[in-house]
Amino acid sequence: MTPQTIRFFHRGAVVEVGGVHPTRTVLDWLREDARCTGTKEGCNEGDCGACTVVIGELPEHSGAPRQQAVRGLALRTVNACIQFLPTLHGKALFTVEDLKAADAPPQAGALHPAQQALVECHGSQCGFCTPGFVMSLWSAYEHHNACGTQPTRQELADELSGNLCRCTGYRPILDAGQRMFDLPAVALDTAPVIAALQGLQGKETAAEGATFSYAGANAARRTDHFHAPRTLDALATLRAQHPEAQLLAGSTDVGLWVNKMFRDLGDIIFVGDVQEMKTVEERDDHSGSRELYIGAGASLTAAWSALAQRVPALQDVFLRFASPPIRNTGTMGGNVANGSPIGDSPPILMALDAQIELRKGARVRRMPLQDFYTDYMKNQLEAGEFVQGMAVPLQAMERQVRGYKISKRFDCDISALCGGFAIEVGSDNTVTALRLAFGGMAGTVKRAALAEAALLGQPWTQGSVRAAQAALAQDFQPLSDMRASAGYRLQVAQNLLQRFWLETRTDQPLPPELTSVFSTLPHALPAQSAAGRTSASTGAQPSSVQGA
Ligand code: FAD
Ligand code: FES
Ligand code: FES
Repeated sequence: MTPQTIRFFHRGAVVEVGGVHPTRTVLDWLREDARCTGTKEGCNEGDCGACTVVIGELPEHSGAPRQQAVRGLALRTVNACIQFLPTLHGKALFTVEDLKAADAPPQAGALHPAQQALVECHGSQCGFCTPGFVMSLWSAYEHHNACGTQPTRQELADELSGNLCRCTGYRPILDAGQRMFDLPAVALDTAPVIAALQGLQGKETAAEGATFSYAGANAARRTDHFHAPRTLDALATLRAQHPEAQLLAGSTDVGLWVNKMFRDLGDIIFVGDVQEMKTVEERDDHSGSRELYIGAGASLTAAWSALAQRVPALQDVFLRFASPPIRNTGTMGGNVANGSPIGDSPPILMALDAQIELRKGARVRRMPLQDFYTDYMKNQLEAGEFVQGMAVPLQAMERQVRGYKISKRFDCDISALCGGFAIEVGSDNTVTALRLAFGGMAGTVKRAALAEAALLGQPWTQGSVRAAQAALAQDFQPLSDMRASAGYRLQVAQNLLQRFWLETRTDQPLPPELTSVFSTLPHALPAQSAAGRTSASTGAQPSSVQGA
């Protein structure tokens, strides 16, 4: 494989980049090489949204449901600061400079409705956050215009939960998010972008076959390789050949290793272009019962939407997982494989009896997710093996399931602890099946075996819950750290078990809208639709300011 140059669509044309290191971030390239300084740098770790850009892909490559495409183009917001440049290969990059050129009417100086609305609503003061907000608003504008809808104020707040502003207090920005739909409409002309991407795809695949390979030198002039296989077989072969290479998916953990820990990754195998790994679908499992299969390369947005669609009570923990740009690029496979003890997907997946599917060469094996972690940040993966997907039995989703995330801020905040709960109660009010899994309580995510044993076969009553709460103190000896003390963690875990009982007890269970973290907003949301969001607009501030 001869190393290639990185080719992608930007500012109305296909650009070709070579000679940069594989971990050169999109943000650094934009600001330092392409001189597109409209995109700002704030935190450089995916938290503030100042660097928000939009990636465009052909729908068949994006993994997003086709119906979400905007006139044939899949658009998603991402944080440019933690995306490496070679991951753009074959895609389109839109930045704030493009809005005017791509959309605005011919007269010079005309602003895009998102920009014009921010001006009219005083949604920008120092302006540092503004380009990032403009890109998040533009993505929402294009998506809603393409399907003829308008977001509620709360939905806008969710869309903008990855953008922080220190000056405006957000209300004028939300006002602008609604105002932009009142201004003369403009629409991205997707035709030239699609034509360019099809040309790139055609040429690339012919030239590169199953894998795009790129090589770039680091500061010490050592050449590091970036391999982006397009098929599962090509990934399996590469992984077996290069077991020492760094696997890269959405880069929302790995990106920080480079930016914040200055790690030198060496050779990289990027799984983000393996379409087969982005599958999220119901299928028969090996025993003939039905399962929801989540490919390891499926974005968190796609994976969590599929889970929340089937278990609406998971909508809260879905919306509180990071922010849209992180969820659009981060993968559930990365969350599970990374194995952080405070990862939010594993407790929920464990409560849902999820199996993890591993592949090494041609061999595929499965195990219960709860058996995958062996110690702090250690797991069962063998050298040359990778996570191919996760499988959730549909039958597990028919139980009463809840996911509770405890963090200081509503969104874009790492959990102090996260609980996954599932229960089946017989007609005689006896607990017949129970899963209690916690992140943030031990060196790995794990189930509360003693608390489960204290409840199984018992009546689902306040009394038996009390016994299980006591057993939780045997299951876990949590740590104290900057996010929470050990005592707080244990107390909250016991309280979550109480809350789970209040919401699922046989007589007078509390409805989710009374206990949802969003229902504590000053203007309590009317009963939330099953999609987890209101139909009426509310005065709610973006949830990220609530806890700030
Ligand atoms: P990457 O960063 O690409 O990789 C992570 C690790 O997984 C690497 O070791 C990589 O080698 C490995 N890996 C990836 N794919 C595979 C595979 N198929 N097989 C084997 N190994 C693989 N996490 C939460 O749980 N909750 C949050 O609320 C949350 N908020 C965040 C907010 C911000 C601002 C940021 C930057 C991160 C946040 N995260 C959060 C962490 C991160 O987004 C998640 O862990 C994410 O799911 C990682 O997925 P990724 O695809 O980006 O993985
Ligand atoms: Fe803050 Fe990228 S600079 S999210
Ligand atoms: Fe200053 Fe938002 S206008 S940070």
